[in-house]
Amino acid sequence: MLHKTLKPFPKDFLWGASTSAYQVEGAALEDGKGPSCQDVKEIPEGTADLSVSVDHYHHYKEDIALMAEMGFKSYRFSISWTRVLPNGTGEVNPKGIEFYNNLIDECLKYDIEPIVTMFHFDMPAALDERGSWSRHDSVDWFAEYACVLFENFGDRVKYWLTINEQNMLTLVGPVIGTLHVPEGTANLTKEIYQQNHHQLVAQAKAMQLCHEMLPDAKIGPAPNISLVYPASSKPEDVIAAQNFNALRNWLYLDAYVFGEYNNLAWAYLEENDALPTVTDEDRTIMKAAKPDFIGFNYYNTATVEASDGSEAAGVNGDQQSHQTFPGFAKSVDNPNLVKTEFGWEIDPVGFRATVREMYSRYRLPLLVTENGLGAYDTLTEDGKIHDNYRIEYLRQHIAQIQLAISDGVDMLGYNPWSAVDLISTHEGIRKRYGFIYVDRTDEEVGSLKRYRKDSFFWYQKVIATNGQDLKD
Ligand code: BG6
Repeated sequence: MLHKTLKPFPKDFLWGASTSAYQVEGAALEDGKGPSCQDVKEIPEGTADLSVSVDHYHHYKEDIALMAEMGFKSYRFSISWTRVLPNGTGEVNPKGIEFYNNLIDECLKYDIEPIVTMFHFDMPAALDERGSWSRHDSVDWFAEYACVLFENFGDRVKYWLTINEQNMLTLVGPVIGTLHVPEGTANLTKEIYQQNHHQLVAQAKAMQLCHEMLPDAKIGPAPNISLVYPASSKPEDVIAAQNFNALRNWLYLDAYVFGEYNNLAWAYLEENDALPTVTDEDRTIMKAAKPDFIGFNYYNTATVEASDGSEAAGVNGDQQSHQTFPGFAKSVDNPNLVKTEFGWEIDPVGFRATVREMYSRYRLPLLVTENGLGAYDTLTEDGKIHDNYRIEYLRQHIAQIQLAISDGVDMLGYNPWSAVDLISTHEGIRKRYGFIYVDRTDEEVGSLKRYRKDSFFWYQKVIATNGQDLKD
């Protein structure tokens, strides 16, 4: 739809950016923090050690001052479960509570709304050893952790996110470095969907607890949602797109919002002996919970064609992965899109399409919790980073949000990835996303000095004009 007049961004639109604890904080075992699965995993060759990351733990004041300088209205960060509960359950670490109190207070000092992710890929190692999400107990572990967070931070945190990218954990878990997912499989086993199911119940329980304990707070999920296109107008490809949309997107959002499994996804799991065991109590918990908004990460769309069932099942790659689900859908490249230096398709119009589809299905306010361009950046001798490619990417995506707003979608905010450079899930710090450059490489920790990229100044102006001026 072409709009003659565009609607403005809402007055209280949450302009900000995101990070996650294990990718940004460092201090991996400092001040009583227990190890998470990220601290004990094998680090992919040639990528930075996560024990220092970019040391946000010791630089948070400086980082938040820089975010305030950009004019941030919100900062989405995650809490490291093992910083507050070193063993995942039981004893609380006072130093961990102190750190997040300080971080939250520092945000509030500048009127930056903290948006807190409760779980971002970092299962406590102690719980991992006990079976992680494959245990039904994980629902109670997560509820205990949620209570600690709500009790300690609920007086100041108004926006909560439950689990980051649960769908990617299920679809490409080994790449992200989480355990309990056999490598090289099509991720279509009962074992995996049982873990997935426990996460669905755990996040529902956390939403319920949040509503009981913090009636003024808002809570939502943070899956990675991207619309799946059919590779052609062949009806069989359209069916394949519906299939993959169901397995990749709607399985999660239907469960979060309606408390029910998506029928197409359920039928496919059933065909493949991958159905989870679901108890009556699980069903009751899932039904009783409802998010206040949908947080979601968007990087690109996916495209699929029909699968006649003769191909081997398989996953090839990461969040932008090519996956084959025999007899269901097979992902292919979209020839209409260009790719980033790291091979991810770029699809700003798909952002609008995704948002429109989500809003018409669920009718809940939408909060962008990630979006962004991973690229090689160069620090010039005079301390500059000319990242016009990132500006271009963000500009095009922000323009599509305004179109979506003009289409009638209720958008709460935009928090791209990432506020500051950090360690990518599996491609090191050479793949940078931040507005703030950090002087370190994959090989060396470096000075960790912060520099303002060109995108920093550009985003500052975007926020100052509430999205009206997207020019350089
Ligand atoms: C999202 C994750 O999948 O994408 C982040 O929530 C991640 O943790 C981001 O860093 C970008 O992916 P990558 O693999 O380039 O780091």
